[in-house]
Amino acid sequence: MYCVKSITSDIFWLGASDRRVDLFEGVYPIPRGAAYNAYLVKDEKTVLMDTVDHAVGEIFLENLTYALDGRNLDYVVVNHMEPDHSATLMETLRRYPEATVIGNAKTITMIGQFFDLDLTDRVMTVKEGDTLSTGKHNFTFVMAPMVHWPEAMCTYDSTDKVLFSADAFGTFGALNGNIFADEVNFETEWLPDARRYYTNIVGKYGPQVQALLKKAAGLDIAYICPLHGPIWRENIGWYIDKYQHWSTYTPEEKAVMIACGSIYGHTVNAAEILACRLADKGVRNIALYDVTRTDVSEIVSEAFRCSHLVIAAATYNNAIYTPMENALNELKLHNLQNRTVALIENGTWAPTCGKHMSAVFDEMKNMTIMEPIVSLKSSVKEAQRAALEDLADRIAADVLA
Ligand code: FEO
Repeated sequence: MYCVKSITSDIFWLGASDRRVDLFEGVYPIPRGAAYNAYLVKDEKTVLMDTVDHAVGEIFLENLTYALDGRNLDYVVVNHMEPDHSATLMETLRRYPEATVIGNAKTITMIGQFFDLDLTDRVMTVKEGDTLSTGKHNFTFVMAPMVHWPEAMCTYDSTDKVLFSADAFGTFGALNGNIFADEVNFETEWLPDARRYYTNIVGKYGPQVQALLKKAAGLDIAYICPLHGPIWRENIGWYIDKYQHWSTYTPEEKAVMIACGSIYGHTVNAAEILACRLADKGVRNIALYDVTRTDVSEIVSEAFRCSHLVIAAATYNNAIYTPMENALNELKLHNLQNRTVALIENGTWAPTCGKHMSAVFDEMKNMTIMEPIVSLKSSVKEAQRAALEDLADRIAADVLA
C-alpha cells in the first residue's frame, strides 16, 4: 500500500527506507538503515523533487503514481545526481514522457554520463537564483557545489517557505512512520547518526557548507526537506547550529575522545589509566574507542564532536599500527581542524610511532600537540604512570577551564 505523507497542503513526502542495506556507499555501516526522500509539489503544475535509490525504486514509483492521483508529472528537479537519489530518474522520465528535467549544467552533464536517455526538448538548465513559478508556488534554485557533489543544489519554495536541501541536513537511519524531526527524540536517538553522516559524507567540504549556510540565512525557512532522514519544521536553529560547528571544524563540546590501537593490550591499558585519571580530575563523558573494533566513521564523527583527542598506538612496521594509521588518515581526509591532541606511543624495541602520528597532525590545520609524547616500552611502568598522571592534569585543566 501507499506510504505518502503530507508536509503542507501541497507538498508530499514520497520517500522510502531501506532497512536491509549494511553499508552506505559500500563503506559506512548503517545498522539503522537509510531513508531516501523524494517530494512532490502539487500546484497548477506538478513538481517532483529528486527520485530515490534503486533499493526502494519500486515503492517510490508506486507512491508517485498514487500521489499524482491521475495527474501528469510536469517537472522533475534533480537537486543531486548521486545514484542514491537519481537511480530511479530514468524510469521516472520513461513513465512520464512529458516531464521536463530541471538541473544545472553539471547536473545535465552527469545525467548523460549515467544514462542513455535523449533529453532533447526536455531540459530546463538553471543557475544560481533562477526561478520557476508553477502557479501558487515560486521556486528559486540555490547552488550548493560540493555539498556533496559539484552539481548539488537546493530548491527553495518561497510560498510554503520550504528548503529542499539535498544531502544537507540529512542523516543515516530509516524513517519509522514519523517523518518529522519533532516527532522523534532527535537529540538522543538521531544526532549521533546525523553527525556521523555529516562528518563522513560532507565533512571535508566545510567551506562549501558554510557558503550554503550563508545563503540559507537569507531565506525565510519554515521547513527543511533533506534527501535523507527526518524533515525539519521546529527547532531548525538548533540543527543549523550543529552545522555551523561541524562546517567550521569547531568542537561541539569540551570533551575528550581517546582512540587507541593496541596489539596485546598494553597500549589500551595506558589509555584506560589515563581515562581513569581524567575522570578522577572531574572530566565527564570520556569517550574511549579501540580502533580495531570501532568503525572508523565513528572515530571521525567523535573527533568532530570533541575538543581534545588522545591518540594511543603501538608501533608497527616502524610506523603507526595499521588500524590507527587508517583512522588518522581518515581524520586528515575529512579536514578535521582546531583540536588539541595528546599522543601515547608504544613499542617494545623502537617506540617511534609518536613522531609519525605527530607528522600526520602537522599536515592538518591548527592541531595543537600536547608535548611531550608519552612513550611506553611494552607495559606501563612507574615512569609512564607519572607521565600519564601529568598528561591527565594538563588535559583536565584545559577541558575544565
Ligand atoms: Fe545522498 Fe550525496 O547522496
